[in-house]
Amino acid sequence: MSQIRPAASETGDPLLLTPGPLTTSRSVKQAMVHDWGSRDAAFIAINTAVMEALPRIVCGEDRYVTVPMQGSGTFAVEAMLTTFVPRGGKVLVLINGAYGSRARRILDIAGRATVVHETAEDAPPDLAEIDRLLSGDAGISHVFAVHCETTSGIRNPVEAIAALVARHGRRLLLDAMSAFGALPLDTREVAVDAIAASSNKCIQGVPGLGFVICRKEALAETAGNATTLVLDLHDQHAAIQKTGQYRFTPPIHVIVAFHQALQEFQQEGGVAGRGGRYADNARILTDGMRALGFETLLAPNLQAPIIVTFRMPEDPAFVFQRFYDALKERGFVIYPGKLTVAESFRIGCIGDLHAKDMRAFLDTAREVLSEMGVGFVPAKAA
Ligand SMILES: Cc1ncc(COP(=O)(O)O)c(C=O)c1O
Repeated sequence: MSQIRPAASETGDPLLLTPGPLTTSRSVKQAMVHDWGSRDAAFIAINTAVMEALPRIVCGEDRYVTVPMQGSGTFAVEAMLTTFVPRGGKVLVLINGAYGSRARRILDIAGRATVVHETAEDAPPDLAEIDRLLSGDAGISHVFAVHCETTSGIRNPVEAIAALVARHGRRLLLDAMSAFGALPLDTREVAVDAIAASSNKCIQGVPGLGFVICRKEALAETAGNATTLVLDLHDQHAAIQKTGQYRFTPPIHVIVAFHQALQEFQQEGGVAGRGGRYADNARILTDGMRALGFETLLAPNLQAPIIVTFRMPEDPAFVFQRFYDALKERGFVIYPGKLTVAESFRIGCIGDLHAKDMRAFLDTAREVLSEMGVGFVPAKAA
């Protein structure tokens, strides 16, 4: 039986090596043990501070405004697409994973026309092909891209995509869900109309709030576009501007915890500090897993330091569910694969996880693999 004590977060829960919801700090969780009235000045002040802090993370405090959207990240993406794309608009959807495909589905359901540029899950979009599609179809009003496609962990070249979209005079809508706060994005350099993300990713809050950081001038043009009441960002923004209050019940505890998470994000040094820690986590994880005999899906130049996809080993002794269960028992939750190109599983580097946690994970993985009798694991160096 294992000599390794179960790992755990400060609160005794397993560590989540997942793409979010993720392990949060004790202080973020503790921020929620109070009650607030949604129309009370104390809550409204906290909400205002959160909304004002978010555009600063993308260097857009003067030109951008945050519109919150109750719900998970997908609510924010759907709100962004159906508010910004007019009914007669057409979107070039860049797909290299599940979240690009989901955006297309949202647009199909909402009756917005789409053109798709799809590449394999381990390949970035082809810029020359985007150029060709935009040149050949003047009807394309918007381009939709995913910053880090969490399906594989690939970092899509949003800076180059944005430059191309701007050159053609079209508008960019970005799903930055798993990248926001960890991968730099400077809206002074990257022309983008809207950026969707959520509370429970790299800012390390708890789930329940999506948000869209909107270029003010672009948001002002969206009146009447929305096809639902709830997901209308223009209406949500107008109501909050007027009254300071949400149209419908806000996830108060989530927002207060998010406020605490944002303070911890700033204390860590913002995007540079947080992204730097995740990059260290990813490097320790990748080096360690390779030393154990695993192969990564992505070439290093394509890999974002958010979540790493490993190919499923061919050794019949490796049974993913057994590996998963044994790790969970010892305090680590990993993530199944979501790829169509290869059998795989994923391990996240984000959340309140540090170098020591990644090393403890690797020690535990080695022990589990040897208990499973997996043959490809090299003996531990003395
Ligand atoms: C890139 C991306 N977009 C959208 C989503 C959807 O977010 P949610 O599951 O919170 O609805 C996720 C979730 O991981 C994501 O990684």
